[in-house]
Amino acid sequence: MLKEKIEKIKEAALVAVENAKTVEEVLQLEIQFLGRKSEFVGILRQLKDVSPEEKKEVGQLANAVKVEIQTLLDQKKKNLASTFDAAAEKIDVTVPAVKLRRGHLHPLTQIQNEIEDIFTSMGFEIADGPEVEDEFHNFDALNMPKDHPARDMQDTFWLRSQTSADKTQTKADNRQNDTEEKKGERILLRTHTSNVQIRYMETHEPPFRIIAPGRIYRNEAGDSTHEHTFHQFEALVVGDDINVGNFKFVAQQFFSKFFKKDIQIRIRPSFFPFTEPSFEFDISCTVCGGKGCSACKNAGWLEIGGAGMVNQNVFVAAGYPRNKYQGFAWGFGVERLAMMKYKISDIRLFHSGDLRFIKQF
Ligand code: DAH
Repeated sequence: MLKEKIEKIKEAALVAVENAKTVEEVLQLEIQFLGRKSEFVGILRQLKDVSPEEKKEVGQLANAVKVEIQTLLDQKKKNLASTFDAAAEKIDVTVPAVKLRRGHLHPLTQIQNEIEDIFTSMGFEIADGPEVEDEFHNFDALNMPKDHPARDMQDTFWLRSQTSADKTQTKADNRQNDTEEKKGERILLRTHTSNVQIRYMETHEPPFRIIAPGRIYRNEAGDSTHEHTFHQFEALVVGDDINVGNFKFVAQQFFSKFFKKDIQIRIRPSFFPFTEPSFEFDISCTVCGGKGCSACKNAGWLEIGGAGMVNQNVFVAAGYPRNKYQGFAWGFGVERLAMMKYKISDIRLFHSGDLRFIKQF
């Protein structure tokens, strides 16, 4: 009796397992045929009521069948897990994709690219120069000799000069250092982009128009409008008859394009050693257009930076004959323009690395 039942269960299990199509189905069959509440386990419980001989015989059979069914189940599970299920693999191309987070250019880089695009569209070339600069190109050639008070306007990060740092000093070396210092060859981090004026003119003949955007350094404490590291872009236009009118026109064009509205400009007398005459340069307020508001402190104008007609001493230092050419130049802060355009109140945000700030651009 019991033997027959066991054989029947075995046959049913063989067929069922054979026909199973998924791993879940097999797991279900495992419970059905070998689980605690299965018929099979029920039979094993009845063994206690039969004669010792039958118990032995049926017990052995039951064990063999159990192992056989279990082996079969395991085999089937393995096979199903490794077969390719086309239905499950179907791709629904209409399901909305997971949005990938992408990085983007830093706001300062975006602004610099914008500036470069506007100027190249006006026929300007982009020039470049070193951030680690010698005293000659950063100061002397720009008509700022060592004892010139204007040097104090730009607190400087001085770097150890190669000659004095790396050599054991002798009297001759000292004399050599002295002459190198006279030639302005001490090394520093450039305090403005005006060094590029000299670098460019040393290797190019007028006429030309360039801008030179880049990073600059000042040895000073920071606050919401000052950083030790920031960016300027220099402009330099040189030819036979460049005048202040050309400067005003180019500047007016640039700022109108940059702020995407009509910008008026105003120049006020100022002083820079490398220009004569020199100006402070203002634009009509980008918020109120000149009527007066909180952004311009009711002045109607916003200060932008310094500009002027290139001092003939600068041309001479760069190797041009005196009074042969005329040109205009300016140096404006890139952060300042970005802050005006996007109404940013603290210059330190640019280098803060704060993603809450960066992600807004
Ligand atoms: N180099 C000056 C500064 O950093 C800015 C400047 C003023 C540049 C007048 C110029 C200029 O080219 O003509 O403060």
